[in-house]
Amino acid sequence: MKKKLSHGPIERNVTILAVLSLLVVTIGGIVEIAPLFWIDSTIEKVKGVRPYTPLELAGRNIYMREGCYNCHSQMIRPFRDEVERYGHYSLAAESMYDHPFQWGSKRTGPDLARVGGRYSDEWHVQHLIDPRSTVPESIMPGYAFLAERDLVTGDMSSDLRALKLTGVPYSQASIDKANNDLQAQANPDADPEDLAQRYPKAQIRDFDGDPKRLTEMDALVAYLQMLGTLVDTKAAAPQEQVR
Ligand code: HEC
Repeated sequence: MKKKLSHGPIERNVTILAVLSLLVVTIGGIVEIAPLFWIDSTIEKVKGVRPYTPLELAGRNIYMREGCYNCHSQMIRPFRDEVERYGHYSLAAESMYDHPFQWGSKRTGPDLARVGGRYSDEWHVQHLIDPRSTVPESIMPGYAFLAERDLVTGDMSSDLRALKLTGVPYSQASIDKANNDLQAQANPDADPEDLAQRYPKAQIRDFDGDPKRLTEMDALVAYLQMLGTLVDTKAAAPQEQVR
């Protein structure tokens, strides 16, 4: 004798099946996703992470404009080969102020998440002008025009204000002084105290080798030189966790 299944009616009626499936998936989804919006540990707090300075932000905008992310990732995965080549694996907090993030999914060139401080400013300028002059086998395109073009950003205060709306904690002082900060970071004659206080570890100097002008090269090199330098990774997490 055939046993009557209690869920028979559900399986035979496509509407009920669809509605109940949707209900189950919805509950599952809420249980998995909703807590991420409330628990503080979703992105663990890491000492040293701060919002970008206006000059770094302008450099970042050039990085996106030129599509550098098409060949470069900015996310070191927790695997031994990556950690040995690029340094400590990337922490979630290190990109918490990135809108949009630049993790990337293509590595025609190397990962850049910790490229800051690895080379001198002169190396970067030379490499960006003519990659094959520093790395003969390079297939990276040249960006010589960046050194020729004055940095034109529009009002940086509105950039900072927009980022603040998305949760980046810029102070009112930083928003008010954004245009001034943009110039001051690359000007060896400016008083760096105020900027350095609001942006710890900000590197303040002329970046492109031409102190008289503020160029797109200044901004891009300022950005590259700060990548991965904010967090003291030796103190952040034990390397034993690397699988
Ligand atoms: C067509 C792919 C491609 C594009 C686009 C590209 N790169 Fe590269 N990049 C490479 C390759 C390949 C290398 C490795 C060889 C070399 O050092 O030139 C490299 C190397 C680098 C390095 C040295 C990294 C290291 O650890 O040695 C930096 C810095 C860099 N690129 C920055 C940039 C920036 C900034 C942009 C955008 C303005 C950019 N790249 C666009 C392919 C690319």
